[in-house]
Amino acid sequence: MSSKASNVEYSVDDKLPRHVAIIMDGNGRWAKKRLLNRVKGHEKGVEAVRRIVEACRELHISVLTLYAFSTENWQRPQSEVKALMGLLKRFLVEETPELSKNNIRLNVIGQLHRLPEDVRATIDQVREATAVNSGMLLNLALSYGGRTEITDMVRAVAVKVASGDIAPEDIDESVVADHLYTAGIQDPDLMIRTSGEMRISNFLLWQLAYSEIFVTPTLWPDFTREEFLTILQDYQRRDRRFGRVS
Ligand code: FPP
Repeated sequence: MSSKASNVEYSVDDKLPRHVAIIMDGNGRWAKKRLLNRVKGHEKGVEAVRRIVEACRELHISVLTLYAFSTENWQRPQSEVKALMGLLKRFLVEETPELSKNNIRLNVIGQLHRLPEDVRATIDQVREATAVNSGMLLNLALSYGGRTEITDMVRAVAVKVASGDIAPEDIDESVVADHLYTAGIQDPDLMIRTSGEMRISNFLLWQLAYSEIFVTPTLWPDFTREEFLTILQDYQRRDRRFGRVS
């Protein structure tokens, strides 16, 4: 099976990442370049989200994790936070039929208790409506921070140690992984960041240990299916050694 996007021919039989994680950066700059309000950039960003979810589904990528809102993003102006929450809610409501039709399950990682109640209720509804879907996992990082996740994991493990459920000498990497928000989800094979910044910004600090990283200067609203396919081809040429020799 092959997928054609303009001049990029891509074979889905080739080695593909099973889990792709994306830092969707550059919405504000996209808007600023056009003398528009930052929220317009986020609105345009939602269209890019739809494009990339569709591409992942077509390529049978198992997990797509999108960094939609960080713990640090709460410090943005209230008007922008409110607009982003509204966009997320609208996206989830509008996308539910598509997710169901395409066998996509929704999962959310982060400090969900900090989200407005209506957004939490919508997340619960969509998670429930898509719970049986097995084709792909759309994993949204919302109110997410890697350090917070690790702190929460330490607390959860400490509670089990205190109650005698886990012995300190039994704490190993799998115990840690099982108490992160991503428990049960394989680590990302590929992490993409748009807008050219060379940092991971508190994203999946434990899980990205051996992920391949690709940074593109493209601003998120301009990120196309074609560029995504080109990055996947770059990934296929990489030699993943996991600290070993080839
Ligand atoms: C970073 O751009 C982007 C965000 C903080 C929000 C990302 C949200 C979306 C793409 C839309 C909603 C998401 C979903 C899943 C429907 P920035 O604002 O930091 O851009 P800048 O660095 O250019 O200012």
